[in-house]
Amino acid sequence: MKIDPLHPSFAACVLDIDLSMVTKSSGSQEIIQAFEQYGLLVFPNQSLTSEGQLRFAKLFGELESFPEATMQKDSEKVYNVSNIDASGNIPTVDDIQILNLKGTQLWHTDSSYRHIPALASFLMALELPDSPESGDTEFADMFAAYDSLPDELRTRLKGRHMVHNYEYERIYVEPRLPPIPASEKALVPPVTHPVLRYHPDRDRHSVYITANVGGEIGGLNQDEGKKLHKETINFVTQPRFVYRHQWSLGDLLMWDNRRLLHRVLPYPIDTQRRKMRRTSVSDVAPPQIKL
Ligand code: OGA
Ligand code: MN
Repeated sequence: MKIDPLHPSFAACVLDIDLSMVTKSSGSQEIIQAFEQYGLLVFPNQSLTSEGQLRFAKLFGELESFPEATMQKDSEKVYNVSNIDASGNIPTVDDIQILNLKGTQLWHTDSSYRHIPALASFLMALELPDSPESGDTEFADMFAAYDSLPDELRTRLKGRHMVHNYEYERIYVEPRLPPIPASEKALVPPVTHPVLRYHPDRDRHSVYITANVGGEIGGLNQDEGKKLHKETINFVTQPRFVYRHQWSLGDLLMWDNRRLLHRVLPYPIDTQRRKMRRTSVSDVAPPQIKL
């Protein structure tokens, strides 16, 4: 296993490893160590099947289920982040599947709308747009952002919690999406998480904020909350904290959702195929503050 850093504060490319051969006793400990250190690992030239990707992800925690009916899935644990429908075609731009992808274009961290969000996500490129650089994915390092917070902003954020609501995406981001069925809503009621959170495995803090599932900050009125939310998102996603990944087929990316934000950059969604396969594993506890 050979590790090449990709950015001054995080992200590394991992070469000379076949992920289909990794087991608990062979390779996974080195990967966990690199994952904790770099937060984002890029494994090029992988050939994992859906089952292989599930098996690999399972080495790092409990697989997340995606029970929501609006998600495009192979199975309840394999989420296809893709503009290709079940019959293999690109739906029209106002199709639910396409509208639903809009949330991934906003800075976020996976499953933050759950009481226990995702610890790690695994995303494999299966089909990519032809246009160079379109559909790149950006990652921002919230350890570095936290360490650079101006005192004034840090003070305003300290002790604050943000409301993460799966439904927010429907109401504010893409109102053309139909309301979430009551049965689905019952699975994912709004939750709150600390905006400044503690990362127990690294003994560091990160900024935990998303633009796709919320903007309300507890204890502030709507205007003040939205202003603080926007100011924080703008600060923490400055180019100096960001690594931009230009995908090649067969890349598998593994990232730490406790530490990074990410978003996909726009691509010609109505004409060019893009198919990514995502699996995630849950964290072991809700986001914490240091006690
Ligand atoms: C996701 C996601 C980014 C991408 O699956 O949650 O953010 O590049 N995907 O498709
Ligand atoms: Mn995501």
